[in-house]
Amino acid sequence: MKIITMYNNKGGVGKTTSVINIAYSLSKMRKKVLIMDFDEQRNSSRFFLEDGDDRGYAPTRYENIFIMTYDECIQKRKNIQMKVGLDPEYDTFEFANQYTDWLKQLETKSNYDYIIFDLPPALNDLTLSLLSFCDYVFVPIELGTFAIQGITVVVTKLSEISAKFGGCFVVKFDNENPSDYSLLDTLKNALGAKVLESIIPFSRVIKNSISYRMTAAEYMDYMVAAEKYGELTKEIVGICE
Ligand SMILES: Nc1ncnc2c1ncn2[C@@H]1O[C@H](COP(=O)(O)OP(=O)(O)O)[C@@H](O)[C@H]1O
Ligand SMILES: [Mg+2]
Repeated sequence: MKIITMYNNKGGVGKTTSVINIAYSLSKMRKKVLIMDFDEQRNSSRFFLEDGDDRGYAPTRYENIFIMTYDECIQKRKNIQMKVGLDPEYDTFEFANQYTDWLKQLETKSNYDYIIFDLPPALNDLTLSLLSFCDYVFVPIELGTFAIQGITVVVTKLSEISAKFGGCFVVKFDNENPSDYSLLDTLKNALGAKVLESIIPFSRVIKNSISYRMTAAEYMDYMVAAEKYGELTKEIVGICE
């Protein structure tokens, strides 16, 4: 089992969209996936569960994809903290051990190939401890001067907490904007081989599909953009396995 996340401390870059589409591609590769939604906005929980379904841990309409909702993930965290008498603000290390044990039990029972954390855009105690559990942290980046500066901050933070940086991948790439090509060069100069080859374009197919509660590949599989998450997922699997 591998625990991975698509993390960036900026909101709205495409973390949840990436989690959803990558989980879908993994499921098509016959991998069993659990998504754990740690974001109070509950976007991935809402995507995978029907309205009114209040189960906290459930199979989804996709074979091989299971979801644990925000409320369930947070309740579990509180239970562990109460059980071992931890102070939620400080005892991150002991909490991490307990949490890892619990995740391992979960995996033994269910044989997940991948657990994917959908995290909120914050660098707080919760996200830092979750990032350090991950086998690999992948960082989606929407190109821009500030974003490239920002990614250095994220990468430094990851190394400070000994989290494993799997690489970053470009999302919302604008093929018609020369400036995006030069920013891509800047990014590659800064991070070298840590920039994944697959690039997710800015795409209405990707944007609109989510509104219809579909993955890009389900929504319009004949569009180039819809294939891109499949390519990215293969690259991610290559790094993880
Ligand atoms: N490749 C893309 N092209 C166009 N729009 C996108 C793309 N990826 C995500 N979006 C849109 O960007 C917005 C934020 O995406 P989301 O995945 O919720 O970001 P985050 O989880 O990082 O906050 C959503 O409206 C989503 O539909
Ligand atoms: Mg999100």
